[in-house]
Amino acid sequence: MVKYVISVFYPQAADGFGKGFLFMRRIEVKTGKPYEILVERSISGRVGAELLKVASVKRVMVVTDKTVEGLYFERVKNSLIASGIEVCEFVIAPGERSKSTENLVRLWEALAESEITRSDAIIALGGGVVGDLAGFAASTFLRGIKYVQIPTTLLAMTDSSVGGKTAVDLKVGKNLAGAFHQPCLVLCDPETLGTLPREHMRDGMAEVIKYGMINRPEIIDKLYAYTPGDKDALDEIISMCIEDKRDVVSGDEFDTGIRALLNFGHTPAHAIELGSNYEITHGSAVAIGMVIMTRASVKMGLCKENALGKLLGLLDKFGLPSSCSYSAKTLAQGALGDKKRTGDTISVIMEYGIGDARICKVKVSELEKIFEKGLEK
Ligand code: GLY
Repeated sequence: MVKYVISVFYPQAADGFGKGFLFMRRIEVKTGKPYEILVERSISGRVGAELLKVASVKRVMVVTDKTVEGLYFERVKNSLIASGIEVCEFVIAPGERSKSTENLVRLWEALAESEITRSDAIIALGGGVVGDLAGFAASTFLRGIKYVQIPTTLLAMTDSSVGGKTAVDLKVGKNLAGAFHQPCLVLCDPETLGTLPREHMRDGMAEVIKYGMINRPEIIDKLYAYTPGDKDALDEIISMCIEDKRDVVSGDEFDTGIRALLNFGHTPAHAIELGSNYEITHGSAVAIGMVIMTRASVKMGLCKENALGKLLGLLDKFGLPSSCSYSAKTLAQGALGDKKRTGDTISVIMEYGIGDARICKVKVSELEKIFEKGLEK
C-alpha cells in the first residue's frame, strides 16, 4: 500500500464572518495560473465589476441551462452590461445528457459566430454540467480562452467549479474527453442555493461529508451541529470544503497523486451509478460508496468502528442512502471499467479515521474482497 502525505493549510479567518455580518471569503488557488474564489451572498450580481478586476474583457459568452437562465441570467447580464461588457448567451437543456460532444461543437460554433476573441471570456452559470462543458470549450476554443465559474449548485460550489477539471461525456462513459483548464475567477453565491431542488441539495451534501471524511474532521462536527436554514453556518461549511479542495488541487493540479483522495467512495459509486443506469444519483452513490469503503477499512483493522457510526449518522441526518443491493462482484466489475485503473493495480481510498483518508494501491484481484468486506453487515 502506498501512502501519500498531504499538507493541509488552514486559511485565515473569514472577513466579517458572524451573525449580523455579511459573510465574505476570498480563497486563493495557487495553481500554475493562480485565481481567486469569492464566496459571498449575491456576488453573482457583481460579476461585471469582479471580472474587470482580473481581465479586461469586452465580450462574454454566458453558458447556462434553461432552468438557471430563468432564475439568474438577467441578474448576471445586467451586471455585465453595467460594466460595459457585451453579453452573448448559449443555453442548454438541464441534465447530464447535455454534456455531450454535440453541444460542445454547437458551443464552439456559437463562440465563433459571436466573434469571441482570445481577450474575451466564457462565463459558466449553473451546475457541474454547465461548468464542465463551458470549461472544456474555453480550454479548446482558439487554443484556450479565459472562463469564469458561477456555480449555482452545492456540488458545483464545493467540487466541480474548483480545480480546472473540464470535460464532456462520450457514449461509452462520463468525462472521457476533457482537459485541465483553470478558471480565471470563481464567484460562489450561496444565495442561489435557495432555489435548488431538495434532492440536488442532498446530493451535494454527500460531497460535503466527503471533505470531512478525507481531510477535515471539523466539517463533520459542523454538519452535526448544522440546523437546516442556518445560512451563516452553511456559508462557512461551503467555504471549508472549497478551502480543502483548494489545498488538494494546489498540491496536485494535474491529478497524479494526492488529488485522488477526492475520489473517496467514488470507485464503488461509479459502479453503482452505472449499474442503476444513472437512476441512483451521483450524490447517493457517493454516500453508499463512502459507507462501503469505511466499513471495509473497519473490517481490515485500518480504522475504528466509531468513524463508520459517525458517517452513518450524518447520511441519515441528510436523507442520504447507506446501502445498495449490488454484489461485490458487480461493483468490482463496474469499477474496473473505470479510467483510473493502471495495469493490474487500482488506487482505492481507505479510511484511517475521520479526516484521515489515504490512497492505497491494491491488486485488481483484491478489489472484490474489499467490496465484500464493505458490504458485510
Ligand atoms: N472532482 C474530483 C477532482 O476534481 O479531482
